[in-house]
Amino acid sequence: MALFGSKSILGVDLGTAGIKIAELSNSGDRFDLKNYGIIDFLAKEGSSPKLSDDILIAGLKDLIARTRPSTKDAVASISSFLTFTTVIEMPYLSAKDLEKAIPFEARKYIPIPLSDVVLDWSIINVGGQSNQTPNVEVFLAAVPKNEAERYKNIFTSAGLNIKALELENIAIIRALLGDDKSPLAIINLGGRSTSILVVDKGFERVSRNYELGGFEITKALAVSLGISFERAEEIKRKDGLKGNQAFNQAISPLIDMIVFEVRKTIANYEENKMVKIGKVILIGGQSQMPGIKDYFAQKLGKDILIGDPLKRISYNKVLEETLKNAGPSLSVALGLAMRKI
Ligand SMILES: Nc1ncnc2c1ncn2[C@@H]1O[C@H](COP(=O)(O)OP(=O)(O)OP(=O)(O)O)[C@@H](O)[C@H]1O
Ligand SMILES: [Mg+2]
Repeated sequence: MALFGSKSILGVDLGTAGIKIAELSNSGDRFDLKNYGIIDFLAKEGSSPKLSDDILIAGLKDLIARTRPSTKDAVASISSFLTFTTVIEMPYLSAKDLEKAIPFEARKYIPIPLSDVVLDWSIINVGGQSNQTPNVEVFLAAVPKNEAERYKNIFTSAGLNIKALELENIAIIRALLGDDKSPLAIINLGGRSTSILVVDKGFERVSRNYELGGFEITKALAVSLGISFERAEEIKRKDGLKGNQAFNQAISPLIDMIVFEVRKTIANYEENKMVKIGKVILIGGQSQMPGIKDYFAQKLGKDILIGDPLKRISYNKVLEETLKNAGPSLSVALGLAMRKI
């Protein structure tokens, strides 16, 4: 029930390691956190099966039963490794011509037939006068139709009204960056993968997905110390890179591989666009590992921040302690729930 014009939305982030939901009510410029919940599949199972739709539906139902949100209206994200995005530059003719020209251009960049994708685009910059016609930069996003259908089916089966399906990275940008227009990078350190996102003037510019995440880090720790996955997960969360030398030797080579990819992506963008990326924001469950922020700072030589998606959200003070830990993992779910639908 909407009271005095406040409206509740449920943001649902179906990850490969877990499910996160967050319910926000919104009145004017203000968001209130009503509810949140997390299911962590990897920590429980210690293996990395591809989560079947049935497992996801059951997990989602369970999470809803436990958190009892006051709305069934949900905005869901679609994983960045299932979507295809790019920024293209083209001459600006008129809005009408652009509408015709974009699908034509898109064919050159999107590796699957256009009839199999939902294509979306937005103009992110007009400028760079060449001759008489200004150039426009267009953000292109393509979601395979079968994946969109699959997601819709999962949510409907779990009893939710899916109001919108949104790209994960768009939700992350909404959750983390208020008016920040400076060039920056956001690194989402997830369970199965890590995504590297360059944002400039508030828009996604480059997005890379790297198939290495927290799961592999826990596994490396378990194997090299000869301990169980559960115990390794505990050590990772409690000590991480601030523990003893044996822990560091097991963990740091994997973090180095991630840092290497991050550095490459950032350097490419800086070179191509002749700008400096001043800060790097870490989010995702793995960003909570002790010592990771300093490690990134030392290796990258940039300002590293841990993303705080709760900055513009009010919540009950009782939740403060648990939210301090859960915050960076909830970035996607919170960004989704902030969407105006
Ligand atoms: N406090 C913590 N310290 C260290 N690692 C943590 C902590 N909390 C969670 N993690 C790790 O974060 C990972 C899960 O991150 P996250 O919840 O962002 O993944 P996901 O969104 O489900 O997966 P993906 O983004 O790959 O689809 C797991 O590997 C887990 O071990
Ligand atoms: Mg994730």
